[in-house]
Amino acid sequence: MTDTDTDTDPGTVAANTHVQTLEVLEVIAETADAVSVVLEVPDRLVTKFRYLPGQFLTVQVPGATDGDPAVARCYSLSSSPHLDDHLIITVKRVAGGHASNWICDRLRAGDRLTVLSPSGKFVPRSLHQDLLLVGAGSGATPLLSIAKSTLIGGSGAIFFFYANRCEEDIIFASELEEIMVEFPDRFAVRHHLDDRDGQVTRDYLANRLEPYGKCDVYLCGPDGFMTVAREALADAGVPESHVHTEIFQSLSGDPFADIVIPPITEGAEDARVRVEVAGEEHNLSWPREVPLLDVLLSKGIDAPYSCREGACSACACTIRSGDVRMLRNDTLVDADLAAGLTLACQAVPISDEVEIEFDQ
Ligand SMILES: Cc1cc2nc3c(=O)[nH]c(=O)nc-3n(C[C@H](O)[C@H](O)[C@H](O)COP(=O)(O)OP(=O)(O)OC[C@H]3O[C@@H](n4cnc5c(N)ncnc54)[C@H](O)[C@@H]3O)c2cc1C
Ligand code: FES
Repeated sequence: MTDTDTDTDPGTVAANTHVQTLEVLEVIAETADAVSVVLEVPDRLVTKFRYLPGQFLTVQVPGATDGDPAVARCYSLSSSPHLDDHLIITVKRVAGGHASNWICDRLRAGDRLTVLSPSGKFVPRSLHQDLLLVGAGSGATPLLSIAKSTLIGGSGAIFFFYANRCEEDIIFASELEEIMVEFPDRFAVRHHLDDRDGQVTRDYLANRLEPYGKCDVYLCGPDGFMTVAREALADAGVPESHVHTEIFQSLSGDPFADIVIPPITEGAEDARVRVEVAGEEHNLSWPREVPLLDVLLSKGIDAPYSCREGACSACACTIRSGDVRMLRNDTLVDADLAAGLTLACQAVPISDEVEIEFDQ
């Protein structure tokens, strides 16, 4: 255990060690509205870019016009660490959206993309359990990574309910077919097409998903679809604690900026936190109003993060004992909270002693 971690000078600016630049090897048109971007990881960065199925990259995209600041967006990896040599993100256009259209229209092989290393908590607990995947549109991106990883790196079987407006909108159509041929006993996809089957409704979905009610569920898609799917899963008898969700939303801050470490004054009223990051334990003083991530960064501890605004879940960690409260939370759902997750960038202590583990 490290009791005497070195303080970084409070109020100083530290380089953001998660920022890297990767070369775009290929941009693959998946549908008229979606592309996959294949990124090369040089040997020197292989460790920094190790990832788990379901995690995402944060990508920097130039501002709308010259002089506008760059924007940051998260994109899930559709590649699998068990199969694919390169990192692949898959991006679907959002009507009127800035970054998704820039990536679909402007990004080319040979360009360099500034990214943050992979993070996120939308990761299966085990690759040896049967999973129900429920997705719509670009929500298939992390689900494909989870499916490939389970089939190749584990022994679980997968049922994937995948909704789209029409056949032309199905992302990964041929890849999904190939996986079904390769794993006929362990992988099945049910394509739902609005123009053929009608809009997905709560009753319809509950009936389709009921046979898989004992599985852990990974759910990702547009807001309206997620609401219907959560209700349908409850009707199908799936306990909320089995439903894992990834919420797609745009970031507003700049996670690529240098880190300004706030002045942190330790005092007698501080809580104590025992925190495990990357297998190393630290025993630290935790001032009552300072988010855990700031405490860790001020000690030079390389914890995962991206947005630092409670929107992406990159900094999610598990409370092993004690109580905290979050200043803001736009990403963890009730099932995550019930599982003990919190956001390090927003968590401040309630109890005097807290034990926390970063387990992704
Ligand atoms: C963890 C995570 C993983 C994700 N993974 C993926 C993925 O794998 N694939 C994927 O395609 N997406 C993914 N996303 C979503 C992605 O990060 C972006 O949110 C998405 O691409 C839209 O970004 P944009 O810049 O194109 O749109 P934005 O410019 O952010 O606009 C979004 C919407 O808001 C509207 N809007 C913008 N500005 C205004 C304004 N001032 N007033 C009113 N309306 C406005 C736009 O018209 C548009 O409809 C993920 C998000 C998260 C958090
Ligand atoms: S870093 Fe994004 S939620 Fe904490």
